[in-house]
Amino acid sequence: MSWITIVPDPDALARAAADDLRNIVREAVRERGVCHVALSGGSTPKALFGVLAQHGRDWLPWDQVVLWWGDERTVPPDHKDSNYGMAKQHLLDPLGLSPTKLHRMEGERDPDAAARDYERAMTEALGSPPVLDYNLLGMGKDGHTASLFPGSPGLGESKRFVIANPIDSPLANGKTTRITITWPTIAAARHTRILVAGADKAEVLAGVLEDPPGKYPSQNISGPDVRWLVDEAAASKLRRRS
Ligand code: 6PG
Repeated sequence: MSWITIVPDPDALARAAADDLRNIVREAVRERGVCHVALSGGSTPKALFGVLAQHGRDWLPWDQVVLWWGDERTVPPDHKDSNYGMAKQHLLDPLGLSPTKLHRMEGERDPDAAARDYERAMTEALGSPPVLDYNLLGMGKDGHTASLFPGSPGLGESKRFVIANPIDSPLANGKTTRITITWPTIAAARHTRILVAGADKAEVLAGVLEDPPGKYPSQNISGPDVRWLVDEAAASKLRRRS
């Protein structure tokens, strides 16, 4: 079942996402003593990290949070395009979070070997399929999510949980490979949140949510609790608003 929450603008989106994350973390910690959270790259997570950093270290039980990533570019961690690097700069460093509680996708290594090692780490910690408590996703203008881009071989992956996915997209500056979780991992997460902001996503968002399946990768997102958090500009072409 998937739900949509529409908020006025990107700032409200980041604040709503932070409040929602806090509820999920608290519940997971209360029930299981730990919360496994997967982060992603892009502008919407960056704004969320900014809000979390502003709230400060005590706003969430960070010592009980284990961080994972849903995808990574094949660059070193200090590269400007690294998803880990972005989180380090905007979330980890400002809050002084401990690196022992995080699992970075190693974008500087051979992508296939790094993906296999990450898959092993995930299944050892979270089972098979790995069950994340909270999976943060975004959606690109082409309807991709995580690094499951239109036309890429990873779209058809139904057995592996983390793969090296060769992609060819102007949104990724042409041909490259990215490390990414797959549909089975996305489907297994307890809570899935997809943050979407901006008028340039409106057409595709309406297609993803309201057209028959098969058009965009993001139409394959599934799970027990999937919620789209969307700003007014991105929601402007939706026919149904709840
Ligand atoms: C990445 C992502 C990617 C992202 C979308 C949306 O590494 O780029 O994980 O899937 O979530 O491209 O990005 P925005 O948040 O910028 O809209």
